[in-house]
Amino acid sequence: MPIRGERINLREIRKEDLQDILDLRNNIDGSSIARNVPPTSTYEEFLNSHNKSELSFDREYGFFAIETNDTKEFVGRMTFSYMGPRFCADIGIGIKESFWGKGYGHEAHELLLKFLFHNMGLQMVNWRTWSENHGSLKLAIKSGYTITVRSREAIFIDGKLCDYIGLQILREEYYERHPELVDNLQKI
Ligand SMILES: CC(C)(COP(=O)(O)OP(=O)(O)OC[C@H]1O[C@@H](n2cnc3c(N)ncnc32)[C@H](O)[C@@H]1OP(=O)(O)O)[C@@H](O)C(=O)NCCC(=O)NCCS
Repeated sequence: MPIRGERINLREIRKEDLQDILDLRNNIDGSSIARNVPPTSTYEEFLNSHNKSELSFDREYGFFAIETNDTKEFVGRMTFSYMGPRFCADIGIGIKESFWGKGYGHEAHELLLKFLFHNMGLQMVNWRTWSENHGSLKLAIKSGYTITVRSREAIFIDGKLCDYIGLQILREEYYERHPELVDNLQKI
C-alpha cells in the first residue's frame, strides 16, 4: 500500500522503475552523496538485487519510488537505511532533474519523515550531505533538521574539497513542528 501525499505517493519499486532509478544514480548531477565514487550500477546488477528483494521495506532498509498521484509519472526515489528498531535511520532522496524546484522533494521527504516517526516510532533521523549541495541542505533544514557534524574538507566532489555535513532531527523536534499529530509513544 503506498504512502499517500497530496501530489505524490511513495510506493514500492517495480521492475519498470529500474531504468529510471539507474539513470538517476548514474547521472553525476542527480546522484547524491555517492557522487564521489564512480557509478557502478548496471541494469543487470540492479535487476538481480531487485529480484532478490521481496518487500520494498523491512526493519532496516526501505526503498520507494516517488510518483505523481494523477499521471503516475516517476519523479524520483527515496530510501531509508541503517535503521535500528525504534531508534534511528538515514534518509536518502533523488529527484529527476525535470522535477527539481517544484516542491516534490519536500513533500516526499515529509511523507517519509511522518512514516518513520509516526508509524515506525523512531527516535531520530539523520541526513548526510556536503557543503556545496545547497538544495539538499535547504531541504533538510526546511524540515527542521539541525547541523550536528561538519567535517572540514572531508569530501572531494566536482573537483574541489567540500565539508561533509551531518544533520539530525529528533523525535520531539518533529512532533513540535507537527502539532496536528499526537505522539502516542512513551518517552525514552
Ligand atoms: C536536493 C533535491 C532532492 C531537492 O529536490 P526538489 O524537489 O528540487 O526540492 P523542493 O522543490 O522540494 O525544494 C525544497 C526547498 O529547497 C530549495 N532548493 C531546492 N533546490 C535548491 C538548490 N539547488 N539551491 C538552493 N535551494 C534549493 C527550494 O527553493 C525549497 O525551498 P523554499 O520552499 O524555501 O523555496 C534534488 O535537487 C535532487 O534530487 N538532487 C540530487 C540528489 C541529491 O543531492 N540528494 C540529496 C541527498 S544528499
